[in-house]
Amino acid sequence: MAGQDKEEPMTSHKKPQFDPQRRVVVGSVLAATSQLVFPISSFANPTRPTSIGRETMDIERFVEDCVSANLETDAQAAVKEVLAKAVSTPDAVIAALGAPTKAGLNVLLRSPTLTIFAATWTPQMNLMPHDHLMWANIGIYTGREDNIFWKRLSTGIEAYGAAALFSKDAASLPEDALHSVTNPLLRFTGGIHIYGGDFFGTTRSQWNPETLEEEPSDGDVIRGIFQRENERLGLDT
Ligand SMILES: [Fe+2]
Repeated sequence: MAGQDKEEPMTSHKKPQFDPQRRVVVGSVLAATSQLVFPISSFANPTRPTSIGRETMDIERFVEDCVSANLETDAQAAVKEVLAKAVSTPDAVIAALGAPTKAGLNVLLRSPTLTIFAATWTPQMNLMPHDHLMWANIGIYTGREDNIFWKRLSTGIEAYGAAALFSKDAASLPEDALHSVTNPLLRFTGGIHIYGGDFFGTTRSQWNPETLEEEPSDGDVIRGIFQRENERLGLDT
């Protein structure tokens, strides 16, 4: 870990929130105080239009619902509600998006205020610590994404918590969240990732997974990581 500094992290009062449909594992003292885990509230508004068909998710409708939700006062919570409902029927999502067969970022929407893509992870794929500089919602439709959460210290970054996200789980990360992601499974994982801004057009940071040295990052850098993962496994077509 980077540094043993006990200084308060340079983060806001907001903490990542999770709607565990099945189970969530949270590390650190924060778990003991349940600051990271909140009860499910994603279905509180039964009038919100659903993007779910009986067997196949309507991608166009889903994107429209997210765009509409993003206009609400608490845009992140409203969009998360749409996302949680979508991944509550993961078979319908897979029917629409296909089962993942390689690392990828399948972009469903890119705008200045909202980015939606399906992120697919190869077996045991890892992504180093990184920030987003905008809120993020993550919904898993197949497999599992393990998140380690990091905080900024004056000396660098330090891990402080974790969450295992399974199919049907939805999670929210605040604007100042830093996380690294692992697919711990021997099969592919797929999740819908939604960001409150232009994910691909925003310059931000990532941290070397071994030295934790901060490096510049953006959408092209992340795309390159996914592309090299496919090349490494001979999955590129
Ligand atoms: Fe991320």
